Order: sequence, then C-alpha cells, then structure tokens
Amino acid sequence: MKHVLSVDQFSERDIDTIITCARGLRKMRHRELTGALTGKVLACVFYEPSTRTSASFIAAMTKLGGQVIPITQGVQFSSVAKGETLEDTVTTLGQYADAIVLRHPETGAVARAAEVSPVPVINAGDGTGEHPTQALLDLFTIHEEVDRPLADLTVALVGDLQNGRTIHSLAKLLARYKTRMLLVAPPALAMPESLVSRLVDAGSEVQEVSLEEAVEASDVVYMTRVQKERLANPADATAPFILTPELVERMRPESRILHPLPRLAEIPTSIDADPRAAYFRQVKNGLFVRMALLTLVLQ
Ligand code: NCD
Repeated sequence: MKHVLSVDQFSERDIDTIITCARGLRKMRHRELTGALTGKVLACVFYEPSTRTSASFIAAMTKLGGQVIPITQGVQFSSVAKGETLEDTVTTLGQYADAIVLRHPETGAVARAAEVSPVPVINAGDGTGEHPTQALLDLFTIHEEVDRPLADLTVALVGDLQNGRTIHSLAKLLARYKTRMLLVAPPALAMPESLVSRLVDAGSEVQEVSLEEAVEASDVVYMTRVQKERLANPADATAPFILTPELVERMRPESRILHPLPRLAEIPTSIDADPRAAYFRQVKNGLFVRMALLTLVLQ
C-alpha cells in the first residue's frame, strides 16, 4: 500500500524516480500512454473547492487509460450531506476504486482516512497541513526552469506562510536539499516557528526579508494568496504582497515566478507575458507529475 500523505515520506531517490518518470511521460505520445492504467479506477473526493488539483488528476488518469469516479463538484451531492463519516465514505469508495485522491479542510484528516482505506490514498491538500503532490510539481518546475542544483538556489516564499499548505510542503522538500529560503509575509501570517526551526535544522539558511530584497536575491519567487477562508482573524487578510511590474523589473532575467494558483491580486495579469512568469507552465507540469504518481501508485 502506497499512500501519499506528506513530503516527509519520500526519499531523495523516490523524488528522482517521480521526476524522471514525469519527464518520460511528457515525451510519450497519446497511444503509448493509454495502456498504462487500463481497467484502473480512481476516486477523486474533494471536501473543498479545487480546479487544478482535481482536473489534473482526472486528466492524468484519463490519459493513462484509467477511469475516474469524480466527487469533485461538492461532497454535498454525496452521502456526506446525510452525515456519513469520512471513514465510511473512504471505506466505501475503496470497494470500487483502486486509489483515492482526497482533499479535506481538516489537517490530518487525509492521514485518518488512509488508516481505514483498503486502497492507497493520495493527499490532495488537508487544511493548513500539506499538499505533497503540489510540492512535487513545484520541485519539478524548479528543475525544469532553473538549471542549477537546488543546494545553490535561493527561493523566496511569499504571502500566507502560516496557512498555505503548498508552502509547508514545498519548504520541507527544499530543506532536504539545503536550499536557501527567504520568507516574505505579514507578521500575522508568518511561517510557524516550528516549521522554521525544522528547515534550519535540516541545513537550510532561512531569513525573513522584504519583498524588495527577495525579488533581487532569489532564483525563484514563489507567490501565494492569503488563505482568507482559513484565517482566525479576518483582519489579517488586509494588504497582500503584490508583485508589481516594478518589482519584476528588479528580478534577474533568469529568475522565475511560481504560484500554486489560484492567484488573486498578488500577481497582476500584466506580468503573465513576462518569460519569467512560469506559473502556467507549472500548471502543465502538474499533469505529468500526477501521471507519474498515479503510475507509481497503481501499477
Ligand atoms: C492550493 C491549495 O489548494 O492549497 N491550490 C492548488 O492546489 N494549486 C493553493 C491555494 O488554495 O491557495
């Protein structure tokens, strides 16, 4: 059984395997792909809104010749609306599906589901906890866009570092490679102390800086939105950090802008045409990385 719950479970070799597999799948033609997961069924169960994660898992499964049970349009149309527990829903879906992709608003809920699931469970985001498949596609994108070892890179993490699960997973993953990280967040949304200590203990240099300093010093500027729906105090949502065209001008030509999306005001659309804006290429990479993960989990 190969649940995908946290980036902590992957060895560096696992990560290399996933990246190599994703690169291979990207090169393959339609006909070569469709045999890979014929007859396999994936249940996609989302207790929270999603566009990219759900759509890319469905596209990945379909391209590999498998089928999907999509409970992505709102669990209000499933027995969850009747009060069914997460455990019972997952146990049930495990009778039909060969794997379950699960997103849930509660940190730890996906791990709880994995304990009772008869089939592998893939964490598609659990509250403010983790989003391991996003971190893998972020890492894949950094490899594709910046042709230097991760140990030599400086990555700026910008926005809601307290509640952003993509940030939490990516930071843990980068710390394994001792990547230098610059943190840019309003004080109310700073990265949890425990996570900062973990990154430092793993050997990463971590510094809190201003956005101006970060754009000039970073190889990758990873923007995120404020997770309004998760804030205990809605007043913390004010004044997001905005990557203005003036700030982008101060970035090096070979640096890159990433964002897990959805973006709100933090990246104006006028930046999209800049070659440094890599967030829609990052979206595309999500398809290949999720194809790789499904192949490795289901074959
Ligand atoms: C993120 C998420 O759901 O955590 N979206 C995604 O999966 N790409 C980021 C977010 O919601 O801000």
